[in-house]
Amino acid sequence: MMETQKTVHGAWSSRFAFILAATGSAVGLGNIWKFPYITGENGGGAFVLVYLFCVLLIGIPIMIAETMLGRRSQRNPIETMQILTEEAGADKNWHYLGWMGVIAGLLILSYYSVIAGWASAYVFKAFAGSFFDADAKEIKTIFNNFVGSPIQLIFWHSLFMLATMLIVVRGINNGLEKATQYLMPSLFVLMFLLVGYAMTTGSYFQGLQFLFIPDFSKLTSNSVLTAMGHAFFTLSLGMGAIMVYGSYLPKNISIAKTAFLIAGADTIVALLAGIAIFPIVFANNLHPNSGPGLIFETLPIAFGSMTGGWLMGILFFVMLTIAALTSSISLIEPAVAWLVENKGFSREKACAWTGGLTWVLGLGTVFSFNVWSDVTFFERTIFQLLDYLTANLMLPIGGFCIAIFAGWMMKSQHSAEELDMPTQAGYDAWKLLISYVAPAAVFFVFLHVVGVL
Ligand code: TRP
Repeated sequence: MMETQKTVHGAWSSRFAFILAATGSAVGLGNIWKFPYITGENGGGAFVLVYLFCVLLIGIPIMIAETMLGRRSQRNPIETMQILTEEAGADKNWHYLGWMGVIAGLLILSYYSVIAGWASAYVFKAFAGSFFDADAKEIKTIFNNFVGSPIQLIFWHSLFMLATMLIVVRGINNGLEKATQYLMPSLFVLMFLLVGYAMTTGSYFQGLQFLFIPDFSKLTSNSVLTAMGHAFFTLSLGMGAIMVYGSYLPKNISIAKTAFLIAGADTIVALLAGIAIFPIVFANNLHPNSGPGLIFETLPIAFGSMTGGWLMGILFFVMLTIAALTSSISLIEPAVAWLVENKGFSREKACAWTGGLTWVLGLGTVFSFNVWSDVTFFERTIFQLLDYLTANLMLPIGGFCIAIFAGWMMKSQHSAEELDMPTQAGYDAWKLLISYVAPAAVFFVFLHVVGVL
């Protein structure tokens, strides 16, 4: 089907290429920067447990659904929703789902790029030896001075946006596939080395305890929402990123198996980051709830005091930047694919417009760490508001709709055919999770947060 479209819309060269790109999208700042700091803010173990449950029962089924929808239509998310609505004979309004995804992607990228800019700036701080023998207080001062400077943040945010756009301009085969190939294995090795350092701090078990011994009295309904939102965020779900990647996926590949692989790798990276960071937090009398600066205030202590720390610091921040890049391209790809395929934009022009818009939006986040740090809406800075709006609301709502669509609107015959699971039981389990468990879980968490339950 859709022969003419094929010339515009790309395809991955293999299943491995898809796994790499989707893992590249999933593993990013969410795992290494966000997971530790929100775990710290939400009291540790119980939060981690809820997050793991959400990945398993909500995240993986929705990842399977999103990939499937994309592959069935082989179009960008906005068109995917239009085509599949027609095929299912469902209400036309479903295509707004594609729209919400495109908007959520740009909003997330606007702050994602600013934080990724921090990571790139820290490559140079590591290189300059700024962390050498520095204690926790000095490291914190370095961080505070840095985020206090709008000029510096704008510089690095601009550089990161530029790098993202340069990759996206080149299209999926040239840009996206290659970027991830060497990154994942190296990232794993480095995380293990950092865990090794954490073992020497003397607070290793305290760190593990914080992460893995649940204390449910610390769990509020907002932390449950944050844990659920993070399951979407970390797996890149709910806005069409995985849908777009799925649309480039050849027809003969098992979607379910790849979803488990991707979610597994993603979860391991996040847990390793937590295991590396919290012992350092406790060994240096830092606070787990020190917010978005957490990794920038802890890991440099390790780099400054361990043997080989200079090189490791440089490598770590280089990899964090690359991991962020392979994620950022997936945040903007739905918008770019739509402008190119439906609005007749050249890839260059589509990138310039979406990139420019996102860059401007990012200034809000830049200023929320310095000149506008007192400007709050609903007691949140612009950065916190964007994060809450996207990760805690838009992604779960998007995911909820995707679940309803895949579970209830799409004909079983079509989803079974597209998923082509090895066993009927596997398909039935997915169908149960996607039709009932995942949407009900999202729904109840929302009810709880608004105080109805
Ligand atoms: N998953 C990425 C991370 O953890 C961020 C990301 C990339 C994302 N694409 C996405 C989040 C799409 C939500 C939706 O860093």
